[in-house]
Amino acid sequence: MLSSTAARVAGARLFAAHCALCHGPGGGGNGERQRFMVPAPASLAVPPWTRRAQAGRTFLAIRRGVPGTAMAAWPTLSDRETWELVAFIESLGSDR
Ligand code: HEC
Repeated sequence: MLSSTAARVAGARLFAAHCALCHGPGGGGNGERQRFMVPAPASLAVPPWTRRAQAGRTFLAIRRGVPGTAMAAWPTLSDRETWELVAFIESLGSDR
């Protein structure tokens, strides 16, 4: 797992490019497109997503997507990029 500052910074860049439109720039669930989705993207800035112990779950949610929602799978992101996103999402919480 990656937890360095470099990983978080890389993750922030990936998040802004691929995720913020739905999840909001800070992952708070307030993305521009949020109101058109059922279910809407929830905040990622809260547990379990911000818990380091749940990093594997976050990784798989990104890799596999969430069936029945607008959350697509992201097989095009490398393992490294996906862990960078996990590191960024972890950094959104104050509960670590
Ligand atoms: C097209 C809109 C959209 C995009 C783009 C998107 N998501 Fe999601 N995401 C959703 C929705 C809708 C859900 C389902 C509701 C929820 O759990 O928040 C979701 C769920 C999640 C979850 C929680 C999974 C669960 O089991 O509840 C994570 C983690 C997540 N997204 C991360 C990301 C990351 C990281 C990216 C960028 C690579 C991303 N999402 C891109 C819409 C989106």
